[in-house]
Amino acid sequence: MISKSDARKVIVTEQNKTLVAHKQADQRVKARAPTGLDWPAVAPPPSHQSLQSSSVLKENLEGHVKRCPFVKQIESLTLQPYYQKGINSANAEEEVEEIITSEFKRNAVLSMSLAQFSQLILKIHSLHQSICRHIRDSYKLPEACGIGIKRQVDGKLPFQEKHVTQQASILGNLEESGILDKNFTESEGVDHDESFGDGNVVPAVVEFGAGRGYLTQMLADCYGIQKVFLVERKSYKLKADRSLRQKERLTLERLRIDIEDLNLNAVESLRGVPYLAIGKHLCGPATDLTLRCCLMTQPCDQEKVPVSRVNINLRGLAIATCCHHLCQWKNYTNKNYFLNLGITKEEFHAITWFTSWAVDADHSSSDLSDVSSVDPQSMETNLSENGGVEQVIRKMKAVERAALGFKCKQIIDMGRMAWVKERGLEAQFVKYVPSTISPENHLLIARCVDHL
Ligand SMILES: C[S@@+](CC[C@H](N)C(=O)[O-])C[C@H]1O[C@@H](n2cnc3c(N)ncnc32)[C@H](O)[C@@H]1O
Repeated sequence: MISKSDARKVIVTEQNKTLVAHKQADQRVKARAPTGLDWPAVAPPPSHQSLQSSSVLKENLEGHVKRCPFVKQIESLTLQPYYQKGINSANAEEEVEEIITSEFKRNAVLSMSLAQFSQLILKIHSLHQSICRHIRDSYKLPEACGIGIKRQVDGKLPFQEKHVTQQASILGNLEESGILDKNFTESEGVDHDESFGDGNVVPAVVEFGAGRGYLTQMLADCYGIQKVFLVERKSYKLKADRSLRQKERLTLERLRIDIEDLNLNAVESLRGVPYLAIGKHLCGPATDLTLRCCLMTQPCDQEKVPVSRVNINLRGLAIATCCHHLCQWKNYTNKNYFLNLGITKEEFHAITWFTSWAVDADHSSSDLSDVSSVDPQSMETNLSENGGVEQVIRKMKAVERAALGFKCKQIIDMGRMAWVKERGLEAQFVKYVPSTISPENHLLIARCVDHL
């Protein structure tokens, strides 16, 4: 936990940031500056204008800042024992870097010589061939989820078939890997005080980047999870929260915090409780931050004494990755994996930029993530033509670009899986839905074998 004086310093710094954001927004909109709570207090550049649609008159700005709920939120967050600024970002000793924007990445690719570009593309194809050959399709619709799906159809929760299909498949994959108990029936219930130590029962779940919390909703409905933690930096309508809170034996905590700053060991009500970490469409670096949050050594008490065994209560995790174009070298968990493959930081950022081609393609009629259906030879023909990189990219067929994008996504995620395995977990990386359901269709599942 941060000391009170540290907390005050953080508040002052964050207030300054907020003030700057207020002022910047104020300059941009001249007469009106937006207000609001939508961005986390501690997330990187919180441009106030992007936060909310409401606004405040320029002459009222100073008074507004004094009672701004955004500032109040910062104050209360920074006093939480589990708030620890930057605890899950890359190691302090590593160089501090700026966020590399998509525009920067694009310009860097376009300014490559054709030879550099061709070399990188060929390297991607060959790495993919050697590293990603065994990614299997694992589309699941577990029996237990029938109940949850029926409830969503019958009940008041918005039913979106594509999302429900993904949620069910994530849970089905957890079931298949033995992390969730498929024999659970709601009538039996689970008394988590009695079930500690029982390898088949996980009483708690932490959902990262939870959004509205519908994945957890299905998990609670179908597998009887009773302690729920929803980690999310934005504010959302809390329909799923309300529905979850109606469950008699369930407790729910929403942690409105950036994952980067979350010390899970300091969440009082999670101490000593076996838990499962999940995330659906955890964008870009949020996956890396989550992996660190669950698997890195973290200080666990006020004196910041490192614990030797970390998160011994983690039973397993399932993360559907997403938005790889937002990935950053500075946050990526397994830099060594890329470096050992002969990929530089600059090439890593180019690879992240290519991933957007996977998502941009038209996924309505066929599964473009089936990369084996595209012949890399056809791309090599383009590469041998004259002209600049931009021209070569323009000449590529959409399916070729999509295939390359998916290959890059998979290469990035395989590095994350390797990092998880290095920490002693059994891990798999699968395609959990076809890309016609969602182009963000890959899932990292891992089980802590210590607890078997
Ligand atoms: C694509 S949405 C997915 C939401 C939800 N899981 C779903 O499937 O509907 C990603 C969510 O992760 C949240 N998120 C991204 N990075 C985060 C971070 N560093 N800390 C906390 N939340 C984050 C975003 O605010 C967003 O709500």
